Amino acid sequence: MWMTNLVALVLVATSASAATSASPDKVLSSHATILADNSAELAFGLYQNIAKEKDVENILFSPVVVASSLGLVALGGKASTASQVKSILNATKVKDEQLHAGLAELLTEVSDPKTRNVTWKISNRLYGPNSVTFVEDFVKSSKKHYNCDHSKINFSDKKSAVSSINEWAANSTDGKLPEVTKDVEKTDGAMLINAMFFKPHWDEQFHHKMVDNRGFMVSRSYTVSVQMMHRTGLYGFYDDKTNKLNILSMPLAHKKSTVVFIMPHHTEPLDRVEKMLTKKQLDTWMGKLQQTAIAVSLPKVSMEVSHDLQKSLGELGLTEAVDKSKADLSKISGKKGLYLASVFHASALEWGTDGNEMDMSVFSTDKLKNPKLFYADHPFIFLVKDQKTNSILFIGRMVRPKGDKMRDEL
Ligand SMILES: *[C@@H]1O[C@H](CO)[C@@H](O)[C@H](O)[C@H]1NC(C)=O
Ligand SMILES: *[C@@H]1O[C@H](CO)[C@@H](O)[C@H](O)[C@H]1NC(C)=O
Ligand SMILES: *[C@@H]1O[C@H](CO)[C@@H](O)[C@H](O)[C@H]1NC(C)=O
Ligand SMILES: *[C@@H]1O[C@H](CO)[C@@H](O)[C@H](O)[C@H]1NC(C)=O
Repeated sequence: MWMTNLVALVLVATSASAATSASPDKVLSSHATILADNSAELAFGLYQNIAKEKDVENILFSPVVVASSLGLVALGGKASTASQVKSILNATKVKDEQLHAGLAELLTEVSDPKTRNVTWKISNRLYGPNSVTFVEDFVKSSKKHYNCDHSKINFSDKKSAVSSINEWAANSTDGKLPEVTKDVEKTDGAMLINAMFFKPHWDEQFHHKMVDNRGFMVSRSYTVSVQMMHRTGLYGFYDDKTNKLNILSMPLAHKKSTVVFIMPHHTEPLDRVEKMLTKKQLDTWMGKLQQTAIAVSLPKVSMEVSHDLQKSLGELGLTEAVDKSKADLSKISGKKGLYLASVFHASALEWGTDGNEMDMSVFSTDKLKNPKLFYADHPFIFLVKDQKTNSILFIGRMVRPKGDKMRDEL
């Protein structure tokens, strides 16, 4: 029975932009602006927590989507289980209705395919254990504000639970995200999942034919073969010689957002640079960018990354919703006892050559003479920063792109 339900629900899963549609010059409401500003704090706080976990290589998550998952917890929680969300989002003064409306407004704005020319599919689902009964009010309002679907699942039957979860994720991302999880660790709580596919569309495309195989140095002694794409253009650039790293900002279509790369001069573990990551530092770097002729080479790869944020969110202050003995999510289930056993945040990101047509006129000037090199052949950090709302759409690091091992240099 639940299989048929699942298929039916999958059919109605649409992107978050379904709720309302953003207009090109719409001004964000003040509460949405507050939430957008705070997504940067959330981005760096969460990034640091994930980075210190064992065995994490690539990192990829969307702070604005995490914020909306937190909003969902506030919607389903009571008392301090709900108020903890506002503390994390630094929005204690924002009223409940404004919190939900503001988060929806923000996500609708930044994921709008028309004004942004972005491909960003976001599907959210709350899986409850068989024993749960979802409160009708919650089902409606979580769909409205957070585009979240619900279903029950028999977590004790781990194998079939895992396969139906992964099937749902694959299906709702057009096959781009084949796996959210390999296992169900805790069978007695709820599982919240964001499944996403993001494909940035450059403000100026790369040459589709200027793609070749190069080495990416995962470490000084381990290189994998990846496709690299190349182009020369005028970009915001800063060589931070003191910290031995380069900052490059490449605008996405309509220049409403930009991908910021933070790359050490040489191959090294990223923890040195990660320690510096704060909102203030980012603002400092952004303030020093200068339009510079750059010959850019970037891996043309797709990344699929899934994080269980349950622990990291707990460390950020969401201690109750994730704790069976403390959680009060009774607005979801009508009674106490339900808690968030896992919070999967899974995304597929496709780095490609697509973008708007190049402005060829620059090639007839001498502005692109003697470009500096930005050759991304070793681990780097990146973030997709929204210029209009000042929010962080994605943050991550590429440490180990998919690719065959090339050689050992001993
Ligand atoms: C929280 O928000 C207030 C304004 O509402 C701001 O002054 C403060 O710097 C923010 N704190 C953090 C940690 O973002
Ligand atoms: C982005 O714009 C290009 C034209 O430059 C168009 O072909 C493409 O379909 C657009 N993509 C989206 C997601 O709107
Ligand atoms: C859930 O799965 C377990 C393990 O396969 C099984 O023993 C149990 O009967 C199932 N429960 C329901 C309600 O289907
Ligand atoms: C995806 O959903 C469709 C129905 O919407 C179904 O026919 C198909 O088998 C599903 N595919 C996967 C991989 O789950």
